[in-house]
Amino acid sequence: MYEQISHSLLNDILNQIKPDIYKKDLRHFYTRLGANFYAIHGLFAKLYGNRPDFDQQAQKLVETMARKYIKRPDELKQLDLERERDHNWFLHQKWVGMALYVNGFAEDLKDMQDHLSYFQELGVNLVHIMPIMKCPKGQSDGGYAVSDFREVDERAGTLEDLQNLAKEMRSREMLLALDVVLNHTSDEHEWAEKAREGDPTYQDYYYTFESRNIPDMFEESMLEVFPETAPGNFTWDEKMQRWVMTVFNHNQWDLNYNNPAVFIEMLDVILYWANQGADILRLDAVAFLWKKLGSTCQNEHEAHLILQLMKDCCQVTAPGVLFIAEAIVAPSEVTKYFGEDAVIAKECEIAYNATLMALLWDAVATKNAKLLTQGIKNLPVKLERATWLNYIRCHDDIGLGFDDKDIIQAGYEPQAHRRFLIDYLTGRFDNSHARGLPFAENFKTGDSRISGSLASLVGLQYAIESGDIEAQESAVKLILLLNSMILSFGGIPLLYYGDEIGTLNDDSYLDDPDKVNDNRWVHRPQIDWEKAQKRHSPGTIEYEIFSGIKKMITIRKEINVFADFNNRELVDVGNPNLFVFSRFNPQKSNDRVLVVANFNDKPQKLDLEDVTSWGSYAQGQLFDLHTRQQPEIYNNTLVIPSFSFYWLREM
Ligand code: GLC
Ligand code: GLC
Repeated sequence: MYEQISHSLLNDILNQIKPDIYKKDLRHFYTRLGANFYAIHGLFAKLYGNRPDFDQQAQKLVETMARKYIKRPDELKQLDLERERDHNWFLHQKWVGMALYVNGFAEDLKDMQDHLSYFQELGVNLVHIMPIMKCPKGQSDGGYAVSDFREVDERAGTLEDLQNLAKEMRSREMLLALDVVLNHTSDEHEWAEKAREGDPTYQDYYYTFESRNIPDMFEESMLEVFPETAPGNFTWDEKMQRWVMTVFNHNQWDLNYNNPAVFIEMLDVILYWANQGADILRLDAVAFLWKKLGSTCQNEHEAHLILQLMKDCCQVTAPGVLFIAEAIVAPSEVTKYFGEDAVIAKECEIAYNATLMALLWDAVATKNAKLLTQGIKNLPVKLERATWLNYIRCHDDIGLGFDDKDIIQAGYEPQAHRRFLIDYLTGRFDNSHARGLPFAENFKTGDSRISGSLASLVGLQYAIESGDIEAQESAVKLILLLNSMILSFGGIPLLYYGDEIGTLNDDSYLDDPDKVNDNRWVHRPQIDWEKAQKRHSPGTIEYEIFSGIKKMITIRKEINVFADFNNRELVDVGNPNLFVFSRFNPQKSNDRVLVVANFNDKPQKLDLEDVTSWGSYAQGQLFDLHTRQQPEIYNNTLVIPSFSFYWLREM
């Protein structure tokens, strides 16, 4: 029955379709539209069905998809068809990513081309370029305050530079990931300017209010993202004489997705970047897309409906393009961004694994794997055709977003444990060599997050400054250990630029008035290419780290069980310092790799009998794929050196 409503609407739409569209050869487009329209209509109606202009909006939606399909370059259409045939293509273990700022890694987009061989040398074949759309000259939240969604910021280059880079990357079989900032615009965006001038159409693109009444009601249940620098969630605009919702910074105006025009505009933006050659779009702050009075305005059901609708529409026009959800939320909420109530991923195929990231930092600070094991045990299983983005550091701060219940089960008191972690990672704790900085400390709630580069957080900066060779060795081992985790866990590993050569905290942001109040800039470095040269000189830190990661990447690519088909089994072992899991081939049970990680500064033992279904191996029966040697086994007890790991296979 319900299908018939959508059939008849689709027929009406196609009957009225504008001549510039119906004259074109759109066979594949119509096939996909037919297949997806039932879902598209259902979602669109759920979100906007009660509006009198619903049919016109639906017409506009379909025309937007069609026009973007017409504009899609043939080469990309071909790629779409290939990826449809091989629809699990991105679950393969061959993908290894790196995230970077174009102006930090290279000079600009053009100069990026000269550095592509650097990625290839390391084994990286997916590059996430942080926001490059036009943004204000002063503060722009690192490009996340966009003032024009279709223009490349002149500091990065031109649209043509981007197209050339995308083409070159494609020819080298590298994937390009770009940001689309869906949740807000800069207050310098044309829509904001028009709203400011009093245009009601554009005021309706945002959440604007004449008085404090509604903002005050919202504030009762909303949280604060940047409590120190941007307290509250609304900003008074003098010119507009209205309050506007600004969840992040005061110059980032939240878009109003209650308005279908906003949805259609942003879908158009998504498809626009898909057509420039992006293989993957990172959708920023997706948890925040829907605002509802009386709620925290995060993870609302409608935010999921919006993402599902975006995905269904994108599947019609550019089915080869994937979405990454940037939803740094509770473990139980994150997996919903693969598709709430779905079987196969139908929102975002990829999501940041912030849970693993935070748990890894817990293991570093505690030198054990108690909470790491507990937290991963409770990480919900993913949908099919969904995968994690596993990372240690990114451009943002580290939030200790794990569940209090897990902290208790691991044997700690939540508040005291979180305090300890912050103190440890910021170096306030006795004997801690970490050099993180507290970020977004909230004196009302006692919460804090942490900034700092990977190398500085694991104590490398301390070691170099104090000339402590032993501490230096430990720091390098920890860097490699953490990388071994994201490379074997299941999902796409995402390195962060500079970490592959041990880049330390960069204090230069303190001299820039536009950055000084945001210490995330301490870990958004300018790559020092002279330092990077040292990766070729054995004995240097750069060499140790770069070649260590490179080696692991090479091995990862050869091990089929490292592909992500929900083929990981956590192994609970008696020793709390170890994190142990098995990666297996679902079709062939003896094809498997046992990953054993020791987060302690002392060598540890693992009784192989503890490893159910593995068990009973004597010296000579297990092989470490990483060192290409047999590990030490004494009387059925495996020995794991401090801050080390194995990738074990049966001989
Ligand atoms: C995302 C970005 C972060 C930014 C925020 C607001 O979380 O990763 O850097 O501040 O969105 O756009
Ligand atoms: C996003 C993330 C949050 C992060 C913030 C700023 O809101 O969800 O974890 O701290 O951006 O970096």
